[in-house]
Amino acid sequence: MVDKITTIGILTSGGDAPGMNAAIRAVVRTAFTKNINVIGINNGYEGLINGEFHAMDARSVGGIFQRGGTILLTCRSKRFMEPAGQRDAIRKMNEAGMDALIVIGGEGSLTGAHALSQKGIKVVGLPGSIDNDVWGTDISIGTDTAMNTIMEAVDKLRDTASSHQRAFVIETMGRNSGYLAVMAGIVCGAEMVLVPEVPVTWEEVAASVANAYQRGKTHAIIMNAEGSAIDTTELVAKIDTLDVGFKTRVSILGHIQRGGSPTAYDRLLASRMGVKAVEALLEGKHGVMTGLQGKNIEYIPLLDVISNKRNVNMEYYEMTKVLAR
Ligand code: F6P
Repeated sequence: MVDKITTIGILTSGGDAPGMNAAIRAVVRTAFTKNINVIGINNGYEGLINGEFHAMDARSVGGIFQRGGTILLTCRSKRFMEPAGQRDAIRKMNEAGMDALIVIGGEGSLTGAHALSQKGIKVVGLPGSIDNDVWGTDISIGTDTAMNTIMEAVDKLRDTASSHQRAFVIETMGRNSGYLAVMAGIVCGAEMVLVPEVPVTWEEVAASVANAYQRGKTHAIIMNAEGSAIDTTELVAKIDTLDVGFKTRVSILGHIQRGGSPTAYDRLLASRMGVKAVEALLEGKHGVMTGLQGKNIEYIPLLDVISNKRNVNMEYYEMTKVLAR
């Protein structure tokens, strides 16, 4: 016998990701269809502790589909990491009559979701992170849009790099993951990709740039993941102490990667996951995350999600080397 769910809370947490709004819309409208009330929680877990709640209906999610960011606002809550914060959040949930909670966010947010689940709250998570570092899903909401933003930026940088015959070291986000850098390495044609998972020295990077020059390339692109062991600005300064053929410039893409209207892919993924999250609760499934596995959205236990680390796909990493020849 599945407990009746009459009211669901929904929040977004951690770094925002394009497509979060599409996921919120899907949750609210699916719940509406099933006669379930939805309470929007502003400011992630911080708002859950503070009781920053408001009722949502089908109309309150109109016109948000195509917008980046999150209408529910987001936050990285330190208080919620502590048991006292979680206890206060549960108290607020009970006061508001929430039977279940849907959390959209990355690794840290899903760790919080698991903590609540351990305390008896019915929680379903949706992976939302441009870094694509969440285990248990082929891709997270927002990653595709970020990849497209990076591709557009690097295409532009390549225009100026070739015109001046320069090398560019371009930093992508991903403090724990090299996913964006590796994928950008493939789709933007990088000479070399630096990721947290594979340590390299600055001398090796310089050698790669020098080699590209000698092979007659008009420019060289080095993609550096934010979390790699090498600081982007220092790397450029060090390369410039040597005669590598190209002069080198730096471009740190930064938070621009997190904004923008979600791609069709992200809108679809977010919509599918939002629908599935509500269905999970109605089927009595909780303590899970919606994960894309192949063509299907599956329910992945939150415990598995947070106990496994998603590493960069080495096949793709090796591919960047071949394609750079
Ligand atoms: O959303 C994840 C992420 O983009 C990381 O790649 C990056 O290190 C971090 O967010 C930056 O977070 P903040 O916006 O809090 O500086």
